[in-house]
Amino acid sequence: MTSRAREIIVADDSEALARIAAQHLLHRIAQQPQRVAICLTGGSGPSRLYQLLAGEFAGAIPWPRVHWFIGDERFVPPDDPLSNMGVARRAFLDGRAPPGHIHPMPTDAATPDAVARRYQEELQNFYGAAQLAPTRPLFDLTLMGIGPDGHTASLFPEAPALAETSRWVVGVEHAAVPPLVPRVTLTLPALASSRELLFLAGGAAKREIITRLRAGADLPAARARAVDGDTVWLIDRAAAGSARDA
Ligand code: 6PG
Repeated sequence: MTSRAREIIVADDSEALARIAAQHLLHRIAQQPQRVAICLTGGSGPSRLYQLLAGEFAGAIPWPRVHWFIGDERFVPPDDPLSNMGVARRAFLDGRAPPGHIHPMPTDAATPDAVARRYQEELQNFYGAAQLAPTRPLFDLTLMGIGPDGHTASLFPEAPALAETSRWVVGVEHAAVPPLVPRVTLTLPALASSRELLFLAGGAAKREIITRLRAGADLPAARARAVDGDTVWLIDRAAAGSARDA
């Protein structure tokens, strides 16, 4: 099955970007009358969005039917400031999402790969099958970031994890960019199983990598595509270069 073309949305600034992201999240939740699965990302990209979800938009989220997953994690204890799910919990999940609906990667396992195997099992139990069906996505919305080298989740350029076709989650012993701690990441097939893959990339620091990706660079962020859903890049003017370039 071929994926649909990527859509690029250029927000005026970082505030508009976070608000558009919040609207996408609420829209995906509204489209799904029953249980909803949202996959979150690490990095600084979603921080304003998380604030909005804790504040202005908190009342619009039907918390009892939403489940929260994480697309990649640093191999650190859950309360470490580097923990991606830890950041999301402190920012908006704790005290709002039912505790059983927050699905962190279990970083108390012996190795990143052991974490990956346990998380894959958890995802398979949630999904109700060991194989992903293209027409029945695992996630309703998956948030993604874009690193300076074109990585997304913890899928770094040229890493073996990129070639994975059957596992949903893998351990990554070496990160290519800071923080240089081992990681655990969803694979391209698992990320592809999303109704919407929503990349957030704002600020002038993203301009160079966004320009390379838009010119066709074959980097992980370009390879992550929803197989039977929407792939959306939400960037701001600073990242796009200028309103005219966009
Ligand atoms: C992580 C991430 C990673 C991140 C990008 C962009 O654990 O570091 O999930 O893929 O999304 O590096 O990060 P920023 O949003 O901080 O630029």
